[in-house]
Amino acid sequence: MDPVTDALDEVHRRLRGLRDGRVADYIPQLATADPDDFGIALVSMAGHVYRAGRTDVPFTVQSVSKPFVYALALDDLGPEEVLRRVGAEPSGDPFNAISLAPDSGRPANPMINAGAIATTALVRADGPAARFRRILDHLSAFAGRPLDVDEDVYAGEAATGDRNRALAYLMRSAGSLNADPDETVDTYFRQCSVRVTVVDLAVMAATLANGGRNPVTGVQVVSEPDVVRTLAVMATCGMYDGAGAWLLDVGLPAKSGVSGGLIAASPARFGVAVHSPPLDASGNPVRGVAALRAMSERFGLHIM
Ligand code: DON
Repeated sequence: MDPVTDALDEVHRRLRGLRDGRVADYIPQLATADPDDFGIALVSMAGHVYRAGRTDVPFTVQSVSKPFVYALALDDLGPEEVLRRVGAEPSGDPFNAISLAPDSGRPANPMINAGAIATTALVRADGPAARFRRILDHLSAFAGRPLDVDEDVYAGEAATGDRNRALAYLMRSAGSLNADPDETVDTYFRQCSVRVTVVDLAVMAATLANGGRNPVTGVQVVSEPDVVRTLAVMATCGMYDGAGAWLLDVGLPAKSGVSGGLIAASPARFGVAVHSPPLDASGNPVRGVAALRAMSERFGLHIM
């Protein structure tokens, strides 16, 4: 075996017995995830894919979609306009908190739900169906293959998403969402329900690490300046109220999601992704955080 696969295997072996954390159950369809699913994938700048554990399991992208949709909004509107609409400061609050500026209603950052919902609304399109089509095509370009929606999870999101609806209505009343709240949240639910594997996520992370060019397909998905801003927001806000500890311990821009996906990008080196459903108190995947911590220590990945 090659040394990278050896290293991933070793981390996987060491952590697969970890039993901490809880599978998210606020959406019934997420509660059925197997807590023993655990896969790691790493994609180099040459487009080589390395894997360990269960890497073929499909799951929904959830909040890991947020940085990619942020990059699309940056591409559509430019950095100033996007920053005017969605902040770039860590909130220190949980992902579903009402972190809106008291005067303007501007959400704190695009990685928490309020900011992600506002960001989804910024994607240029002629109506909600076309907007979601663009988001799906964009996520697919990052992954290097056509992705689809898990309709079951989408139905669960829609049935249980009152808090997200409330956030969207609050933002519209404060003037920070210039779009129909129900349509916007519906697009956001679909975005969260896009189905991926851990290999897809690693290719997506590697595309960010590679300045926006997918290292497997060679397609330039977004511009390098958009990637720089996206990685900056991931570094400061990607791990929610665990972002400070993450930057201390791991030191890489990253994003987690409630179905157990986690990506990290080591600029100009590789993208890595972990899938393991049990989450810690901040909503971050326990084995994913532990795996990245182990890899960062062993390979000196800290960007600082
Ligand atoms: O409730 C939501 O908004 C989810 N569908 C997505 C949130 C998410 O993945 C948060 N991440 N830890």
